[in-house]
Amino acid sequence: MNPVLWFSRHRRGGAALVVMLVVIGTAGVWLGTNLRAETGEKPLAPPKDKSPDLYKYMGADSCGGPGCHGLMDSKKRKFTISQDEYYRWKWNADKESNKTDFGHSGAFDNLKTPESRRIAKNLGLKSPETEPRCLACHAVAVDDNRRGPNYDLTEGVTCEGCHGPAEQWLGPHTRRDWDKKKGAAYGMIDTKNLVKRAERCLACHQGTEKYSVDHELIGAGHPRLNFEMDAYSELMPAHWIVPKEEKDWNGARTWAVSQAVSLRSQLEQLSMSRKGQALLWPDLTQFDCYACHHDVVDRVRGIAEEDKKYQRWRFKEYPNKKPGRLVWNAANYSVFRHAVREIAPDKAGAFDDLVSKFHESLTGKGSVAEFEQALSKLEQMSGELAAMMEKHQFTQKEVWSMLRRIAGDGSAIANAGFQSAEQAVFAVTSLQDSYKRTVGSFPNAKSMDASINQLNDDITYGRKFNSEQFSQHLSTLRKLLEPDVPPVSGTGSATPKPVS
Ligand code: HEC
Ligand code: HEC
Ligand code: HEC
Ligand code: HEC
Repeated sequence: MNPVLWFSRHRRGGAALVVMLVVIGTAGVWLGTNLRAETGEKPLAPPKDKSPDLYKYMGADSCGGPGCHGLMDSKKRKFTISQDEYYRWKWNADKESNKTDFGHSGAFDNLKTPESRRIAKNLGLKSPETEPRCLACHAVAVDDNRRGPNYDLTEGVTCEGCHGPAEQWLGPHTRRDWDKKKGAAYGMIDTKNLVKRAERCLACHQGTEKYSVDHELIGAGHPRLNFEMDAYSELMPAHWIVPKEEKDWNGARTWAVSQAVSLRSQLEQLSMSRKGQALLWPDLTQFDCYACHHDVVDRVRGIAEEDKKYQRWRFKEYPNKKPGRLVWNAANYSVFRHAVREIAPDKAGAFDDLVSKFHESLTGKGSVAEFEQALSKLEQMSGELAAMMEKHQFTQKEVWSMLRRIAGDGSAIANAGFQSAEQAVFAVTSLQDSYKRTVGSFPNAKSMDASINQLNDDITYGRKFNSEQFSQHLSTLRKLLEPDVPPVSGTGSATPKPVS
């Protein structure tokens, strides 16, 4: 579509023109930097007398020059990157779907909506746009001494929110000899490294010790956070080109790493909160929501037949847990454990044992010392698993087999709670997609899609979640994966590489 037409249809069409003018305005600065790229000077060394914690944020408009990241049409690019990153970020532009919600660039503006005001009111806060608790995730809120000349709080989650403060790398990173892996000294975050990337996303999408979407915030109206990095990167939409050598099983690896990092981050929050506050209980988001939020009938005698269906003990099995106890939110474990069984079988037994010890002492009986020990061991192990998944070269056989393991574990996953079921659906979606991209089309492609769509319907509402139905639907998927690994088919490029 003609860009002007596109903008005029857009609900923020007016602002678009302003942005374009600013973009043109900053082009001059950019020409200068690009010219430097040609001259082959020695890269500027980052200042030794200034801590990276003091590097300044330069604002998104410093990135959006048309010769840099501000192209509207990636086909016109001159470098190996897609160069329409600014446009994609600003307008959340996905050429296929023409989406019109603004994701990261609209994160600050979203604090002005009636929903946000209501949340703030419920919490007794004045205005969300000035509230550090909201700005921590809905903008790049930094102290005054780190605000560069073009810094603008209202730009939301900007490039620098993920790539790091640009003061020191803005010039040097345009050089041909720039090495992103060495960018840390200049303040650049190595987003190519999946562990580092997941840590960055999860700081906002799962929270940190200091700022999180806790039960109080959810109670006030904030959506519950759920995250899976592979799907969320697509949704962003992704504005990067995955290098050829990483393309094979990129999605599977991204999924596995983000699961492990999520688990570690959940445990870190739990252990920090125990050190940081006087509260006896961890925050309620550590538990399965529907362990508490369900109807109960608290009598046996004299109740109507109709009400017996709320007495779950009459029909629910409790194989691995006991009724009447809280249930840990195991969403980051109950699906990921299948990746561990496939990729690190020697660690799988210890992993499962640790989790059950941890779970038992968190929700039931066990000494504080046992609990602390299980918690810190589990934290350490999830970190090791993350690093291992990041390095692992996945194969067709492994991905197929992980799909089979997850699909074959319906009742345990459903029994672990709604949030686990949700992650299982994210996982099969992501692994299926990775399979298609790497190998080509699936055998039974149509039935596979139908089955996965059905699973997606099952997790639309936690309130309506039917664990038996979900577990049946997952076993339908398992049947479609009946054969052992199918022969390599379709148009995909890759034959699985042997693990070296
Ligand atoms: C730990 C980070 C974090 C904090 C703190 C936080 N948010 Fe959010 N917020 C998010 C994320 C991430 C999303 C997107 C959730 C998703 O769609 O997966 C979101 C979504 C929202 C939405 C829904 C937006 C939409 O598009 O429907 C509103 C409204 C909102 N936040 C308001 C607030 C307000 C008001 C505060 C402060 C009282 C706040 N948030 C604090 C991370 C946070
Ligand atoms: C929500 C996080 C996030 C935001 C916001 C973001 N990026 Fe990215 N960006 C990533 C991730 C993740 C990658 C993929 C990993 C990689 O290639 O470094 C990436 C990749 C890139 C790449 C490709 C790098 C390469 O070496 O191939 C460029 C260029 C880029 N981003 C520029 C931008 C610009 C410019 C903006 C703002 C207009 C921006 N990004 C906003 C997360 C983000
Ligand atoms: C500085 C905080 C921050 C970081 C870092 C961050 N996000 Fe977000 N993200 C948000 C907030 C806040 C929203 C909600 C925006 C809104 O609608 O108000 C959001 C929204 C999204 C959405 C849209 C969700 C929806 O429901 O449509 C996706 C997808 C997303 N983020 C992916 C990512 C990925 C992938 C990364 C890491 C590469 C990442 N984000 C890093 C804060 C962040
Ligand atoms: C340990 C039990 C427990 C757990 C676990 C729990 N909650 Fe709550 N929740 C409560 C209690 C108690 C209240 C306050 C009473 C009320 O308002 O219903 C509450 C209130 C709420 C409210 C505000 C009331 C309303 O309906 O608007 C929301 C929303 C909510 N919880 C969502 C969640 C979500 C989402 C999760 C999982 C991330 C969760 N809760 C986990 C016990 C729990």
